[in-house]
Amino acid sequence: MTTRIAIVGCGFIGGIHSRALKGLIGGGLVDARVVAVVDRDAERAASFAAAHGADVVTDEPADAIAGADAVWICTPTSSHRALIEQAADAGVAVYCEKPLATSVDDVLAMTHCVEKAGLAHQVGLVLRAAEPFVTLQRLATDHASAGRPMAIVFRDDQYFPNQGQYGSDWRADVAIAGGGALIEHSIHDLDVLAWVLGPIASVTCRTANYAGHDGIEDVAVVTAEHASGATSSLISVWHQVMSRPSTRRVEVFCERALVWLDDDMAGPVHLVQDDGEQIIPTQTGANWVEQLAVPAPWRPGLAAYAAADKEFLTALAAGTPPAPGFEVALAAHLVAEAAYRSAAAGGAPTPVARPVALL
Ligand SMILES: NC(=O)c1ccc[n+]([C@@H]2O[C@H](COP(=O)([O-])OP(=O)(O)OC[C@H]3O[C@@H](n4cnc5c(N)ncnc54)[C@H](O)[C@@H]3O)[C@@H](O)[C@H]2O)c1
Repeated sequence: MTTRIAIVGCGFIGGIHSRALKGLIGGGLVDARVVAVVDRDAERAASFAAAHGADVVTDEPADAIAGADAVWICTPTSSHRALIEQAADAGVAVYCEKPLATSVDDVLAMTHCVEKAGLAHQVGLVLRAAEPFVTLQRLATDHASAGRPMAIVFRDDQYFPNQGQYGSDWRADVAIAGGGALIEHSIHDLDVLAWVLGPIASVTCRTANYAGHDGIEDVAVVTAEHASGATSSLISVWHQVMSRPSTRRVEVFCERALVWLDDDMAGPVHLVQDDGEQIIPTQTGANWVEQLAVPAPWRPGLAAYAAADKEFLTALAAGTPPAPGFEVALAAHLVAEAAYRSAAAGGAPTPVARPVALL
């Protein structure tokens, strides 16, 4: 049965999902149709509607959600919870962008809400679908070859995202974004650290604010102690270097391997062992990505988002739980929350709260 999709939020990330979905649908890779689009900005909504031949174009999410089987929530962070509650009322599956919310309380409420309503749910922690990261995680957790993973050095930097390709100003408003570089952008990175090295037990964190927007840190330095005994360090920076829109460099040290990348979307991944360095090609340009019905130059940049969207739609069609679900996001939010507490206490070691203790 064709899955009827509503897209709520026709901005930057809504546009990426819109193109990914158009490519997947046009390429015959999923059986779905975008039937409704929603934005407060009528012009944006109209342009999305034209791209998909959507039947419903509105600024009222409830009208769009009611006629859909699945909704992509692509609005600024503070609006996600109310939209999830509307989707739950309508019994519609949800793909919600990260961060799920501006506070752990809201993330918990949203996780309860989708579980209580029995909704299929996926969060836009899209690095888990990016082939370079899939490859890095696979190589670093291949204990037979690499030994135990010991430590990660993770650097993530981008220009302050209220300019350039982001073209909106809400990321400088703490009431909407919930914080700065750590929660708004590096929630992805906190999730990757736990994906590769296992759950994070405690953190220390320091933050700084150079741009001067209240509550919006543009430097966050986190040291994480994982339950396995491994350690990781994340430096996340929002600067003003306009030639660096978003860039990650990650080095995973295992007992018998160094696995590293410095292009999070295109790869390649480097594997260094006793016999020297190998370049491990990733599949970004291969197989189904080539079937995306979009101009060829768009495919590498869309690949991770298309993979996540495809995963969600395939799981819905099969009746299996999509991944990563809200529980994965909750774990990352708990780490971010502990990091902010640590920073507020001058960098004190701070245990990560366990979700069971909060429920
Ligand atoms: N997964 C990723 O890689 C990724 C990348 C960028 C952004 N995001 C996340 O996606 C979300 C949106 O970010 P963005 O950069 O696309 O923002 P944006 O400002 O570019 O777009 C948001 C759109 O939502 C519309 N809007 C706002 N509130 C609305 C409401 N209540 N109902 C209907 N429309 C509404 C706005 O008019 C705008 O067109 C944020 O949570 C952000 O953190 C995720």
